[in-house]
Amino acid sequence: MSFSKKDLAVGTIIGLIVGVVAGSFVAPAGVDTTELEKGVNELEEQVKTLTIAINQKNSQISNLQSQVRELQLHIEELEKIVPPLRSLAEAHGILIGAAVDAEKLKRDAQYAETLSREFNILTPENAMKFDSVHPSRNEYDFSEPDAIVSFARANDMKVRGHTLVWHEALPSWIREGDFTPEEWRDILREHILTEAKHYKGQIYAWDVVNEAVEEDGSLRDTVWLQGIGPEYLDLAFRWAHEADPEALLFYNDYGAEGLGSKSDAVYNLVKGLLERGVPIHGVGLQMHVSLEEPPNPQDVAANIKRLNDLGLEVHITEMDVRIREPATEEKLAQQAKLYREMLEVCLSAENCKAFVMWGFTDAHSWIPGFYRGYGFALIFDDSYRAKPAYYALAYALAEGSNRASDASSENQDA
Ligand code: XIL
Repeated sequence: MSFSKKDLAVGTIIGLIVGVVAGSFVAPAGVDTTELEKGVNELEEQVKTLTIAINQKNSQISNLQSQVRELQLHIEELEKIVPPLRSLAEAHGILIGAAVDAEKLKRDAQYAETLSREFNILTPENAMKFDSVHPSRNEYDFSEPDAIVSFARANDMKVRGHTLVWHEALPSWIREGDFTPEEWRDILREHILTEAKHYKGQIYAWDVVNEAVEEDGSLRDTVWLQGIGPEYLDLAFRWAHEADPEALLFYNDYGAEGLGSKSDAVYNLVKGLLERGVPIHGVGLQMHVSLEEPPNPQDVAANIKRLNDLGLEVHITEMDVRIREPATEEKLAQQAKLYREMLEVCLSAENCKAFVMWGFTDAHSWIPGFYRGYGFALIFDDSYRAKPAYYALAYALAEGSNRASDASSENQDA
């Protein structure tokens, strides 16, 4: 081990201080000890002052900690008082719901508990899609969606069936299928009749056809369009109605929430279906939105209104509000505002009957997997704590109920 000059100097000073403090210092000839003693006394004073300051800070910290604990208890008490969304929604005759993952429902008790506590309608996120229930031509497997449907029944929740006809979630025998137009027709007919009959009487609303329209308003070039032609849309609705005459039948799409070429095309599509006497009862507005491009509430209201004029219902079917990481308090507040605005648009439209989100906890959402750098899109965080968006929905529902009861008491007074 070697010492530098600096080490030796520091060592000497420490030695001198220790010596002075211990009172055993014998000054080498020619060293003035009064200066050193003064220095040591000053240091001791400083240490005392610092110790007092540290003690004060420590007691401030523990004061703050106990205040935080008290506030947390207060919040927990308040959380218990806020009624679940489903009971607030019932006062409006509106359904509030979420998409459900079959695996999570099976394995995560808190997921299941939150779902049944808060919502009165659910949508299987993937379990009813073609590749899931009809993996090969002569094989159907309804085990997953059956479990979801019985959960819904046990908890007095309605079910949105999703979805009978889509260009995605197709098994390879369809994606790579080489069939004649008659065969394509038979395949789709058999698929729709089998699935919709399996759930006859248990589905409140079916998304019969999903995402058939392109951004520019043209019909999307799907296996169904290629195999059958544009009449596959009419046929799908007729077959679904034949299988389950009680179910409400919906056309469902994204990017057609407000006004614009795509929502015009959807409007014209469903108008055409109605004119041809095809059984269709509503339009699903998916509402996968972001803070960067929020939907305009007036446009969404105008779109819902023109669908009402056609005699159609509207459901918000898949709302989520993706946030670019990191999720700051400001972004969470903007998210809450957006959820609230869309719910308020729905509440003030007489034909908007359901408000469904594409999940409910950030612990399970399709967003991080599909939109790089985005997440935090739902109303509970990943430990099932209610986010500002949750309270914004509760507030909109509670405020709306007050308005509704104010109006009815005014009517009684009159
Ligand atoms: C998504 C699911 O959330 C994902 O888990 C799956 O991998 C792909 O599909 N529009 C729809 C939904 O109609 O069915 C999609 O769901 C999301 C976009």
